[in-house]
Amino acid sequence: ITDDSTKYFDFAVIGSGVAGLRYALEVAKHGTVAIITKAEPHESSTNYAQGGVSAVLCSSDSVESHMQDTIVAGAYLCDEETVRVVCTEGPERIRELIAMGASFDHGEDGNLHLAREGGHSHHRIVHAADMTGREIERALLKAIESDPNISVFKHHFAIDLLTSQDGSETVCHGIDTMNTKTFKVLRFISKVTLLASGGAGHIYPSTTNPSVATGDGIAMAHRAQAVISNMEFVQFHPTALADEGLPIKPLKARENAFLITEAVRGDGGILYNLDMERFMPMYDERAELAPRDVVARSIDDQLKRRNEKYVLLDISHKARDKILSHFPNIAAECLKYGLDITRDPIPVVPAAHYMCGGVRAGLQGETNIRGLYVAGEVACTGLHGANRLASNSLLEALVFARRAVKPSIEHMKGSHIDQNVSRCWDPPIPVQLGCTILNNIIKRTKEVRKELKLIMWEYVGIVRSTTRLKTAEQRIGELELEWEAYLFQQGWEPTMVGLEACEMRNLFCCAKLVVSSALTRHESRGLHYTVDFPHVDEQLRLPTIIVPCSTMNR
Ligand code: FAD
Ligand code: SIN
Repeated sequence: ITDDSTKYFDFAVIGSGVAGLRYALEVAKHGTVAIITKAEPHESSTNYAQGGVSAVLCSSDSVESHMQDTIVAGAYLCDEETVRVVCTEGPERIRELIAMGASFDHGEDGNLHLAREGGHSHHRIVHAADMTGREIERALLKAIESDPNISVFKHHFAIDLLTSQDGSETVCHGIDTMNTKTFKVLRFISKVTLLASGGAGHIYPSTTNPSVATGDGIAMAHRAQAVISNMEFVQFHPTALADEGLPIKPLKARENAFLITEAVRGDGGILYNLDMERFMPMYDERAELAPRDVVARSIDDQLKRRNEKYVLLDISHKARDKILSHFPNIAAECLKYGLDITRDPIPVVPAAHYMCGGVRAGLQGETNIRGLYVAGEVACTGLHGANRLASNSLLEALVFARRAVKPSIEHMKGSHIDQNVSRCWDPPIPVQLGCTILNNIIKRTKEVRKELKLIMWEYVGIVRSTTRLKTAEQRIGELELEWEAYLFQQGWEPTMVGLEACEMRNLFCCAKLVVSSALTRHESRGLHYTVDFPHVDEQLRLPTIIVPCSTMNR
């Protein structure tokens, strides 16, 4: 690696969603910051968030009530201290966002309009119509633009963390990246690294996540010996648009499923099967406002029993102007395909939506690796337990991005960069587009990626069993070996890097972490439901911890 292919910063931030941007804006007051992001800066789950951010902002609500709702939705696996911290600090984080220029909807009384979603006992969701994430991302990116201490490296794919051993402790020194436009490797040496790379929805064929969500952060942290936790808890959102139920079908299959926000049910939306029978009250007394795991499992049960492809979500009994003002984006998207949501029910199906597990973090976003912090969906802070409460993700990202600032600055001040440190690691070798090896590998990798997703959907979906999980484990193992053998046969070497191959490696890693975690949980709790252990086992009210080379419940 040459000098011009190494850059030195006080802080390296991987990801430009809410967690990465919010952290960058704070630490930039104390040093230089590189934001490394794999696509265009706005491309993130944050940008697609619809419903909003939950926080206690009205006098009839309370932190205790928000905590209780979070803990109940999380099937009592949440870390109570984390829940208290997030619910307590949430309102201030929202006020800061507003001060930075984010604009949210107000009610007729001039106060913030607070919506309601499944699992919440109060109206407490701050939102910008049904495009809350876009507004947050816009405001944060605008603030970043004018900060002279922040440099954004877009289309830079983070490959692996740079680590060394100090006795028994692993230390992080930065990150290797590849520019996906020029195929150049760029090494970032930093005093502090924040991993804010989001989730892993693309281990499943149908997901609400944008295509950048391939679990890269979890996989690279795992390779670097970080502790990973609770990977069995994959949240399926109950209501993604079912394209096959639309009057006019999209010409091309979407890369990600279009979400119909939970706020539609919060506003009175009702779920029906195709015979227009309301089914949710049969499954749970909270009906459409039950937590997500319950609603997704109920829909899954209806689809399997009735051998149907989708159910219907109807909001048409509400006033037309109210529907259009709260859900303009959903109304416009459906109308493109011949569906008027003010008159017609919306065809919906569950889709993979959120990774509750991730890199295990302490209360300040610290990990077991010195100099490495995490925030946002990549982290497992203990807030969500076995199932995330609606609109608690943007909130968690905001709170932990802020909490990681103080220890990061302290760590930065106590560190110095040795200009020779960059020589410690062999540089990755990027493979140029257009060369035969890469073309063949891209083609085969696309097929393998599809196969992996199908295995995950078929055997590691909403309802699981030990036999099916073991089948998944075996088939994923075989598929990975077969893919690696193909790469080897094409002349691919372990030091070579290409976007598709790196993402594939990360998808395999995350899929295996989900399966092995699911196999070790011998109970059904929250999002992990297995027919072999259909009940909660109070003895197992513990997070699943994965230390490199082992999985255990502790
Ligand atoms: P993201 O916003 O996903 O950002 C991750 C960033 O990391 C991206 O910039 C990505 O490009 C980058 N990245 C990833 N891998 C690499 C790599 N290898 N190298 C470089 N960069 C990389 N939550 C709520 O609380 N309320 C909602 O209303 C809500 N609605 C949602 C709607 C949709 C459709 C989706 C998909 C999610 C929704 N969520 C919602 C969840 C929430 O949006 C996300 O969990 C949250 O935005 C995650 O923020 P983040 O900053 O951790 O990650
Ligand atoms: C939604 O708007 O339904 C998504 C909210 C969330 O994921 O928290």
